[in-house]
Amino acid sequence: MCGIICYIGEQNSIPILLEGLKRLEYRGYDSAGLASINPENGEVLFVKSVGKVGELEKKVKSTDFSGNYGIAHTRWATHGKPTEANAHPHSDCTGKLFLIHNGIIENYEILKKELIKKGHKFVSDTDTEVLAHLIEDNLKDNFEDAVRKSLAMVEGTFGIAAIHKDFPRKIVVARRGSPIIIGIGENEYIAASDVNAFIRYTNRVIYLNDDEMALLNDNELVITDLNLKQIEKKPETIDWQYEADEKEGFKHFMLKEIYEQPRTVENAVRGRLIEGEGISKLGGLEPVLDRILNLKKLTFVSCGTSFYAGLYGKYVFERLTDLDVHVDYASEFRYRNLKLTEEDGVVAISQSGETADTLAALREAKRKGSLVLGLVNVVGSTIAKETHAGVYCHAGPEIGVASTKIFVSQCVILNLIALLIGRRRGLSVFDGMQLVKEIKKLSGNIEKILEKADLIREIAKKYLPYQNFLYIGRHLNFPIAMEGALKLKEISYVHAEGYPAGEMKHGPISLIDEYFPTVAIATNGFTYEKMISNIQEIKARNGKVIAVATEGNDEIKNVVDDVIYVPETIDILQPIVNVIPLQLFAYYFADFKGCDIDKPRNLAKSVTVE
Ligand code: M6R
Repeated sequence: MCGIICYIGEQNSIPILLEGLKRLEYRGYDSAGLASINPENGEVLFVKSVGKVGELEKKVKSTDFSGNYGIAHTRWATHGKPTEANAHPHSDCTGKLFLIHNGIIENYEILKKELIKKGHKFVSDTDTEVLAHLIEDNLKDNFEDAVRKSLAMVEGTFGIAAIHKDFPRKIVVARRGSPIIIGIGENEYIAASDVNAFIRYTNRVIYLNDDEMALLNDNELVITDLNLKQIEKKPETIDWQYEADEKEGFKHFMLKEIYEQPRTVENAVRGRLIEGEGISKLGGLEPVLDRILNLKKLTFVSCGTSFYAGLYGKYVFERLTDLDVHVDYASEFRYRNLKLTEEDGVVAISQSGETADTLAALREAKRKGSLVLGLVNVVGSTIAKETHAGVYCHAGPEIGVASTKIFVSQCVILNLIALLIGRRRGLSVFDGMQLVKEIKKLSGNIEKILEKADLIREIAKKYLPYQNFLYIGRHLNFPIAMEGALKLKEISYVHAEGYPAGEMKHGPISLIDEYFPTVAIATNGFTYEKMISNIQEIKARNGKVIAVATEGNDEIKNVVDDVIYVPETIDILQPIVNVIPLQLFAYYFADFKGCDIDKPRNLAKSVTVE
């Protein structure tokens, strides 16, 4: 969703802001803008454009402007269409103030009416512009004070950055519910909504908490709360490597990330498995381990792909632990009247660590006294910070909007957490050792599927004429059917539905005919025979079937239209192997259709609105 980057220091801010915007592109956006001030001559560069950052870059490069501080933004439309007028930065009536904003100002209509009565002229449909005029209205002789006063009047969420021509060499940033991270370089500060935007320059950071603001000067950083009470914060050094946003020869980031998965699995388990004892070691959970071991109930809360990881986790926990395990969409969990107590645990699963619904769900659980854990990829993200303890995926940045490698990482780590609890609550050392042994083989198994990418590509090509797909699986593979269908629909825009195979005859079977193919996950295991029965039911109605089956199963070829073979592992890990061909199928299908795979329409990488 929207992204913020700002720079103040000795360098020309323009290339740093443009690069930062490009590194925020993956979050999803539809317009971009930038404002920079040259304090030497008072010149201002204020440009906006609809579409890609490249368009903005062309406009910026057509000037020879140089200014050593500025703010820039990528906008994902909420209030008002993606137009230049609605793009950020927004300005005030004087044209001297520039403001960028992530989040939503909920009381903007009331404020706007009052400001219009006072004579303010609005040029956009956005909620953000209200804040720009509000600051103008409150401005006397102190810029940061005017920002503070204005923020006290708004309801909703914000991560903001503001500059003003009459108050040179100052950037004011603030947050409530939308991240702002300040990177500290040599005689320079770079603040952003996402570490990715500036990690190339520094890994020394300060995270602003809600209702904190900071004043960035050339060589001074002053952090206060919204009552201007000064706050001392020590910079943290973050373990997040700069990775050039390069596709390394792959056509899309999504494909690159699919191919990275053998390494992703290795990174997820590195140093976390004790083979001889058949147990895992998760440093992030140690401070609360006693409480975890005494939990009565555990609930996974998450959204989208992370929800399917949680759904898979439920089956894994049921197998490896004696816990009462539940799973819920974060967007629903938060509204339920749940009887949560101190003996409950809630695991928030999130790639970005910023998903608004997941955050709201974890806050609700915390309010009720439950232990709140995080399974997050982005280090230092809000969910990572607000949970009592947690485990990081260590998967590096995921740029493709459609999550692939993080899903696999989440699934692997859910096994490690279940193993840790299970082994302390009755799981045998033998079972633990077997799981550890098979986890160690996972990356090799994934490599074997990647070697078959050409075959999967051909199958995807064959099914291009179809507009609807059903994905079915049973038990541990039911979440994988859901995830496979989500991957196809989000990047190729064809309709795909995931279903537990046993539910098929309770409704969806009426859809089946020669134009409605099914992807059936039919690897070996105790539900295999039942899956074959479901496949037969589809074939009897002229439905086409693509099966994901275990290597060596020659019989299935006689039943289905196409087979993708995968290596066999133990049943609780098999879904992690089975999802890989579904990712590749979705990828190639969308690529043949010419879709914008890394940035599918209407989607954002980090969903920070509710
Ligand atoms: O960052 P999160 O894991 O919390 O994001 C949750 C969903 O928005 C995300 O998984 C979404 O469904 C992806 N586009 C899936 O590919």
